[in-house]
Amino acid sequence: MAWWSEYAARIEPDAALDKLTWFKLGGRAKWLFRPEGVDDLASMVRRARGEGVSVRVLGAGANVLVRDDGVDGVVVRLDEPAFRGESIDGCRVTVGGGADVMPLARRLAKTGLAGLEFMAGIPATVGGAIRMNAGGLGGEFGDVVRRVRVMKPDGTIEDWDRDRLAFGYRTSSIRDEVVLSAELELCSDDPDEIRKRYDAQFAAKRASQPLVDKSAGCIFKNPPGLSAGALIDRAGLKGTRCGKASVSHRHANFIVADPDARASDVLSLMDVIKRRVLDHWGMELQAEIEVW
Ligand code: EPU
Repeated sequence: MAWWSEYAARIEPDAALDKLTWFKLGGRAKWLFRPEGVDDLASMVRRARGEGVSVRVLGAGANVLVRDDGVDGVVVRLDEPAFRGESIDGCRVTVGGGADVMPLARRLAKTGLAGLEFMAGIPATVGGAIRMNAGGLGGEFGDVVRRVRVMKPDGTIEDWDRDRLAFGYRTSSIRDEVVLSAELELCSDDPDEIRKRYDAQFAAKRASQPLVDKSAGCIFKNPPGLSAGALIDRAGLKGTRCGKASVSHRHANFIVADPDARASDVLSLMDVIKRRVLDHWGMELQAEIEVW
């Protein structure tokens, strides 16, 4: 019997991942697992570890490029209600790792809880936003995190406070752990004012970034004190194309994918951009997206 047969009701073998990412391309997962709760997840990660099978979590799929040959392991999606709940106690909000951040920010705004407006226009789950310390000029997700409950690869559960999370520019100390839930510290404000800030942030992003195209947001990290977008733009790369992937005309740090694009098109274009920026500016860009 297959090692995963006891989870068969929640596992899809040879699962397409393209529709689960914002790029809408890339290969398949050997297994896609949607645990029904924490115990189910713990049991599976232990079992997979025993079988030598890798486990990774896919959040909103907004910062990930899946290679064309796919993922040789288990991809977990925390879609079930057990991973998406929220509870509010004053300005503290405990929220599941699989919850979507933008709808959460809008719901909290209605109740007069401020602090997530900077996430307008940044698709993410709570777990993904913590792992990547998602954000922009308006703030970073780590700024509002007090504590996180994680599951380690051996299935045990720990609470990590913010010092242990070591938030940095688009990084945290989360590696192979699964974010089960997080405690956020927000502040109270007038719902209309919060909503105005949220909408203004969204409008600014829409004006400067190709949000309607298929992309993974900014491809490269900003070098300290500089904008990767401006460096790529001023190296003359806007519109440069590899196969069905091209450098956005709206924001040069976005690669946009046409229908039927392959992950290899995006990877080739990333190489072209890196080489040209190195030649032109003497600077080596680091990828911000995760390549699976
Ligand atoms: N610029 C250009 N050409 C371009 C793009 C930008 O000249 O093609 C110039 C802009 O005119 C501006 C400067 O570069 O003077 C900075 O641009 P922008 O305000 O768009 O900010 P950014 O540094 O390119 C960062 C984050 C974004 C985030 C925005 C707004 C990174 C890599 N990028 O972009 O994050 O949305 O600030 O807060 O940290 C992401 O992480 O996926 C992302 C999109």
